[in-house]
Amino acid sequence: MLISSSIISLNFLTFEQELKLSEQAGIDWLHIDVMDGRFVPNITIGPMFIPFCKKATNMPIDVHLMIEHPEDHIEAFTNAGADSISIHIENNSHVMNTIQQIKKLGCKASIVLNPGTPAEAITELIPFLDMVLVMSVNPGFSGQKFIPEMLPKIRKIRRFIDDSGNKILLQVDGGVNKDTINSVKEAGADVIVAGTAIYKYPEGIKAGVDALRNS
Ligand code: DX5
Ligand code: ZN
Repeated sequence: MLISSSIISLNFLTFEQELKLSEQAGIDWLHIDVMDGRFVPNITIGPMFIPFCKKATNMPIDVHLMIEHPEDHIEAFTNAGADSISIHIENNSHVMNTIQQIKKLGCKASIVLNPGTPAEAITELIPFLDMVLVMSVNPGFSGQKFIPEMLPKIRKIRRFIDDSGNKILLQVDGGVNKDTINSVKEAGADVIVAGTAIYKYPEGIKAGVDALRNS
C-alpha cells in the first residue's frame, strides 16, 4: 500500500526539514489539503505552497481540493506542479468537465466522496478516473476519528474498480492510523492518507510511518 502524508499536520516552523524526513521515512506521496472556509469550515493553504514542496522533496504532489468552484482553480494547481488533483463529487454539477480539464492539463484526475455520499454517485465517472478517494471522516480537520461504517463503501468501490478493468487507485483519507489501517487495507485500499498518525506520532515521523507499515 502507498502512504500519502497530509502536510497540514506537520510543523510549519520546520517545513523543509519535515518534508525531507518524510521522504527519508519512505512516504510515497504528499497530500495537500486545500480548504476554503466555505465547502468545509476550515481554511488551509493554496497553490503557492506546492513549489516549496517540490524544492524540498521529489515526492509526487497529490492535491485534495475541499473548495467551492474547484473548476476555477485547476490551472493554478497544475501550473504550481500538482501531479494529481482530487475534486469532490458533492460541489460541482459539471464534475465530468472538471475531470477532463484536469487531464487535459496533464494531471491525474481523482474524485472524492464525503461520508454521506453513496458509492453509486460515481459509477458513471469510473472510466474517466485515475483515482477514487473515499473520505473516512467529515472533511475539514485532521485528527478526527475514523468512521468504520465507511468500510462497506470502500469495498463496494473496490468492486466497481475491479469490474471496470481499468487501472484506478483507491485512496482512503481520514483517521487512518496503526489501529485502523488494516481494516482499510482489507477493504481494498491502494493508498492511505495519514496526517496525525505520521506528524503527531510521539516518537517522530519515521517511527509513525514504520508503525503504519508494520501494522
Ligand atoms: C480532512 C483531510 C485529511 C486529514 C488527514 O479534511 O482531508 O487529509 O487532514 O488527517 P488525519 O490523518 O489526522 O485524519
Ligand atoms: Zn485530504
